[in-house]
Amino acid sequence: MQLHGKVAVVTGGASGIGKALCERFAAEGVAGLAVADIDRGGCEAVAARVAPATRALAVPTDVTDERQVLALVDRVEAELGPVDLFCSNAGIAVAGGVEVADATWERIWAVNVMAHVYAARALVPRMAARGGGYLLQTASAAGLLTNLGAAPYAVTKHAAVALAEWLSITHAEQGIKVSCLCPQGVRTPLLLGGLDAAEPAGSAVLAGGAMKEPEEVAQAVVEALAEERFFVLPHPEVADYVRHKAEDPERWLAGMRRLWRRLSGDALTG
Ligand SMILES: NC(=O)c1ccc[n+]([C@@H]2O[C@H](COP(=O)([O-])OP(=O)(O)OC[C@H]3O[C@@H](n4cnc5c(N)ncnc54)[C@H](O)[C@@H]3O)[C@@H](O)[C@H]2O)c1
Repeated sequence: MQLHGKVAVVTGGASGIGKALCERFAAEGVAGLAVADIDRGGCEAVAARVAPATRALAVPTDVTDERQVLALVDRVEAELGPVDLFCSNAGIAVAGGVEVADATWERIWAVNVMAHVYAARALVPRMAARGGGYLLQTASAAGLLTNLGAAPYAVTKHAAVALAEWLSITHAEQGIKVSCLCPQGVRTPLLLGGLDAAEPAGSAVLAGGAMKEPEEVAQAVVEALAEERFFVLPHPEVADYVRHKAEDPERWLAGMRRLWRRLSGDALTG
């Protein structure tokens, strides 16, 4: 897919990777761009920033509420035209293990998984009726490997990868294209403020490879969209880790246990 002349929507567009996607899509010449986020001021600021380059709409949206996702799609299609590309990118991070409260598990499940379901439920029938369209879901390398110290994050990101694969397989015949974005550490408020670098989970991400800038992730997305490639891996080494995991899961688990012992020990001893 070439972005020039297309209508795109980015959720989580107020910050980090979503903001970088909005800025890059505008620079690529999209005809219309909707910046959706639960942060009203943030999505208005990003829409104002890209407005000189494209027709930009700020659409405050809580992606965990299906009615709001439907209203977002309806408004974009009425004001900008049929959605060519929907980037379901909003996400949150939760550290901890099975002791994390049910309400918190439900919250991260709603943002990191159900929001993608709602987007696909709204768009697949419309895109299929028009002969095709493109869905980009932001998962994470944590959805292919794991996230040390953050079970809710690792589990929901695995589910996000599974959904993206399923959609890609099931709806290809209807012209629906799907890409799944799986970065490791990216310098955004989610990583630096949520999975804090002082916590084992944050340190694990930071230790897990070079930190990328959101603009580098946007570059990887534009390249993958041009090739209509399913996996978008801004950190190419993730493909090697996935290969190692598949070739020898016992060895992979042993290595991850060693890394976890080291990081959690470091965290405990300060
Ligand atoms: N930063 C990383 O290291 C990293 C790595 C892999 C994957 N990711 C994923 O990238 C995506 C973007 O994260 P980011 O790093 O740019 O973080 P970020 O915190 O900078 O941006 C996330 C945005 O999502 C919005 N958001 C949260 N809940 C929402 C909701 N219910 N409805 C609408 N918007 C909501 C936030 O307001 C925020 O603007 C997430 O899915 C995240 O899991 C991030």
